Amino acid sequence: MKRESRIYFANWKMGMPSLEHAKLFCHELGRESKEFRDSVIICPSTIHLYSLTHHFKDFGLHFGAQNCSEHEKGAYTGETAASSLQEIGINFCLVGHSERRKYHHETDSVIASKVEELLAHHINPIICIGETELEYAQKKTFEVLKTQLRLIIEDLNLSAPWPQKVYIAYEPVWAIGTGKSADASYLKDVFAWIKKYCGMHLPTDIQLVLLYGGSVDPVSAVPLKQIENLGGFLIGSASLDFQKFKKIVI
Ligand code: PGA
Repeated sequence: MKRESRIYFANWKMGMPSLEHAKLFCHELGRESKEFRDSVIICPSTIHLYSLTHHFKDFGLHFGAQNCSEHEKGAYTGETAASSLQEIGINFCLVGHSERRKYHHETDSVIASKVEELLAHHINPIICIGETELEYAQKKTFEVLKTQLRLIIEDLNLSAPWPQKVYIAYEPVWAIGTGKSADASYLKDVFAWIKKYCGMHLPTDIQLVLLYGGSVDPVSAVPLKQIENLGGFLIGSASLDFQKFKKIVI
């Protein structure tokens, strides 16, 4: 697979110290080639999202959101509607990240509702799935992935059609922020399973983009890039420093 066909999502979480730091990163990114810029989606904090999209609108950069509400509108203090993301031109949004499942108690049904909301507003959901260390040790990976995907892939009653590309990020919980990324042969099996499962339930003309996330850095990315089905990466801490991030993308 050629480099330019991969996509690199930078999940900044709450890691970017300030808007000024975020802008410096984006200025550096803006100096890269179009091919480089088009392969990168920056997911800053919600509070920085509008400012960055506005400030860098002529730089050819791409931004995504880290989260959105499962509700269309209403009295949900502190939440961000998919329609507000659409209003500022956002095309991507993470859903189902393990940190939201764990710390914000998001269930598979809440995550499925978010996917529905995003698709209704023409925003690509990046559907994050992955097993915990215990589930991995108990060899329950595929069982867990099936439970996490079922409500979205099998049961969703969509008012809007699936987009041409459906993004699924496999992020084993035991690999996130631990420095212990999954190895290539394990990932090949997981991706083959996801591809087969989605192939059975999604329309055939859809292109599945399979991402990997979990302790991706310039070193761990090298063998992972050899995986044939790998459509890209979801990168956390290594995406906060532009030079480090660039080494992964190049
Ligand atoms: P990490 O995070 O790269 O810091 O492990 C990945 C993620 O949580 O998306």
